[in-house]
Amino acid sequence: MTELDAAKPLSGAHVVVCVGGGIAAYKAALIVRLLDKAGATVEVVMTARAQQFIGAMTFQALTRRPVFTDMFSATEEATIGHIQVADRADLVIVAPATANLIARLAAGMADDPVCSVVLATKAPVLLAPSMNVNMWSHPLTVANVKRLIDVAGHRTVGPGTGFLACQWVGPGRLADPETIVAAAAAILGPQDLAGQRIVVTAGPTFEPIDPARFIGNRSSGKMGVALAAAAARRGATVQLILGPSALPDPLGVVTTRVETARELETALAAAVTTADVVVMAAAVADYRPRTVATQKLKRGTLGKTTTLELVANPDLLAGLGTRRKAKGKRKGAPILVGFAAETADVIANARKKLVHKRVDLIVANDVSEADAGFGVDTNRVILVDAAGEVHVPHADKATVAHRILDRVVALLPRKHLK
Ligand code: PMT
Repeated sequence: MTELDAAKPLSGAHVVVCVGGGIAAYKAALIVRLLDKAGATVEVVMTARAQQFIGAMTFQALTRRPVFTDMFSATEEATIGHIQVADRADLVIVAPATANLIARLAAGMADDPVCSVVLATKAPVLLAPSMNVNMWSHPLTVANVKRLIDVAGHRTVGPGTGFLACQWVGPGRLADPETIVAAAAAILGPQDLAGQRIVVTAGPTFEPIDPARFIGNRSSGKMGVALAAAAARRGATVQLILGPSALPDPLGVVTTRVETARELETALAAAVTTADVVVMAAAVADYRPRTVATQKLKRGTLGKTTTLELVANPDLLAGLGTRRKAKGKRKGAPILVGFAAETADVIANARKKLVHKRVDLIVANDVSEADAGFGVDTNRVILVDAAGEVHVPHADKATVAHRILDRVVALLPRKHLK
């Protein structure tokens, strides 16, 4: 495998996808496609039953490589193919892992290409089960999965719950291809935040004026959500406090949705008590209307001009910094990371925030740039801390998030580092 980049753990990885014989076998093509797109070298192994559901040709076209299908082929096995496939793997994914395949894997069988590769590999194995709900809950399947986890050290992703091909509703659906690929990335990526509890705030706050109107801002939540997802991938236990945002909850993260600065304050106060790191990416409104009308304000009653009286919201980040200072930098005080949304004198203003808010790191972004800051998928930031400044070049927000977390890892007390 090439040198590991936390932002792209699949890039350069050799991933073997073992396809079992179930109706979800067609979804393995999507998994292969996503892995290929993420820069992995993908090799596919199929059982004979899998080939009843989807042709090897599909995988051969997607991977641009031969597909391993036959244990007794004079050509495939001329060089003991199944051992070579097993040895080349950085990760083996079994998807769909049917009840039958799981049972045979748990018994340590090696009588088909998939079982023999899984038994022979030294790489981590990720099982993505998919089967009828009653098969999944059957004590024998439960015991087989437990054995594969406990004895063989395999990991699982899913199954999801929903409407199954057999017409039953319940657990048994193959996890979404995106979820399986995210689980693969988490296995291959660094786990340098394992054991850390990280609280991330993201998105805007909406401060109501009346039942129809509010004061808000242009934050989409993308930067903070990318941070939460990246931290979870690196092994952290992550709580995301997310203001109004159209984004779905990120995988592997506990998400609390809030609307106003005061709701965010309440959620944050509960979350920080056990946090090791707090990252404030949220664009918290500095002011809110003094009163909120219970009925929609009518244009006719307001006149030609009108005045909205605002009161200051608390500065939540500065509050955390002050409280930590009061306690002294003793054991257990979280690392505090703030953002600075600037339009001029970016570094100077960020440094003022670093000092004034008493935080460990400020992530400064110039929100006047069209391809950075609010709403867009990319960012360009400067990490400002006591040691100096680090410029993170323009990149997608997931990559920027990993560069921020690299700095957070460096700030953690040495004892935390694995
Ligand atoms: O959500 P996206 O569309 O992806 O956009 C990302 C972003 C531009 C919102 C993000 O990169 C960003 O800059 N977030 C911080 C926005 C902001 O409020 O910056 P600020 O300079 O006004 O505040 C400085 C820091 O104090 C921030 O960490 C902020 O969360 C915090 N703050 C601000 C006001 C307040 N009342 N309480 C706070 O804690």
